[in-house]
Amino acid sequence: MGLFGSSKDFFGLDIGSTAVRIVQLQGGGARPSLLAYGSATIPFGMAESDGKLDMQNLGEIIKKLLNESRIATKNVVTALPGSAVFTAVVKLPLMNQGELAKAIRYQAEQNIPLKIKDVKIDWQVLRTDQTKNQMVVMIVAAPTSKVERMMSLLEYAGLEVEALETSSIAVSRSLVSPNDPLVMIVDIGGTSTELTIIENGIVSHCRSLPSAGYALTRAISHNLGLDQNQAEQFKRKFGLAQDKLEGQVYKTMRPILANIVDEIQRSAKFYLEEFGGNVTKVILTGGSSKIPELVSFLSANLNLEIEVGNPWASVSYPANYQDQLQKNAYEFALAIGLASREN
Ligand SMILES: Nc1ncnc2c1ncn2[C@@H]1O[C@H](COP(=O)(O)OP(=O)(O)OP(=O)(O)O)[C@@H](O)[C@H]1O
Ligand SMILES: [Mg+2]
Repeated sequence: MGLFGSSKDFFGLDIGSTAVRIVQLQGGGARPSLLAYGSATIPFGMAESDGKLDMQNLGEIIKKLLNESRIATKNVVTALPGSAVFTAVVKLPLMNQGELAKAIRYQAEQNIPLKIKDVKIDWQVLRTDQTKNQMVVMIVAAPTSKVERMMSLLEYAGLEVEALETSSIAVSRSLVSPNDPLVMIVDIGGTSTELTIIENGIVSHCRSLPSAGYALTRAISHNLGLDQNQAEQFKRKFGLAQDKLEGQVYKTMRPILANIVDEIQRSAKFYLEEFGGNVTKVILTGGSSKIPELVSFLSANLNLEIEVGNPWASVSYPANYQDQLQKNAYEFALAIGLASREN
């Protein structure tokens, strides 16, 4: 092993609805160092498309990005988006592994709205409590078709899959510090908003909402009679400022964001009732976290501390990278989380 530990022989790949991002780290432990990173924007719809041509094109974009970023390894850790997986956290009596496998199958049938033969199931024991004779288990189920599609895409990109994770688990690795005993990550991206509750470092509840940045741009475009590009610019410039354009952009975005606020409250309430834990802080990430005045809007509507996540805090990098990396810190939250997976 060299002075800085060996480089991890894999990189993290985030295939988002607006861009792909890659990160490779070196050395393990609490603060690995940055070896390489890069991003490339992609056309709307490409990330989710099943079409062979789209998948080949996306594969080429990933290959080119790896080349430009000088990442030589072909081993990848990537994630299925929250919208593609079903998760359920269930309480079960204490049991051995064999019994648990059977119980999980039964629980998956009860909790997951797909035929068991069409999904791949994984699970993780979150907590065990001897006195209550209880274990809390998270079940993750991904449609086989989504897993196979991801595998073909990675094949087009010439990659070997080291691990396929769920995005919420990976993001929690880069955004939650040991000083955060019980927090919710709110990732407002392009097509979806992911809510993830993390207790003592363990993802304990997650949900995916089907509205985020695109829905906001579409609503602005529709209500104000603007094309998509103009609407995007209005969103980025005026955001939730009530004194701009007579508050028209604000009024258009408010119901969509109010709905996200409701869902955050609903998840926090559910968690309190079901598991007794009180979420006190939101860690905000995703491109839509940059909407002007969003943080004050969330603070005013949620009785919670709002912090903007900084995934680079868990990585060491040369001082002269500071400005460049911090400019859009949200961008690499998922890719850093994937790259810092411990094998
Ligand atoms: N400065 C900004 N102000 C407002 N919104 C912004 C800004 N920058 C980016 N966005 C919005 O962020 C969204 C993209 O977020 P992000 O890059 O996190 O999504 P993604 O990871 O590609 O997609 P997803 O996670 O939904 O698959 C877009 O809707 C974009 O309009
Ligand atoms: Mg994303």
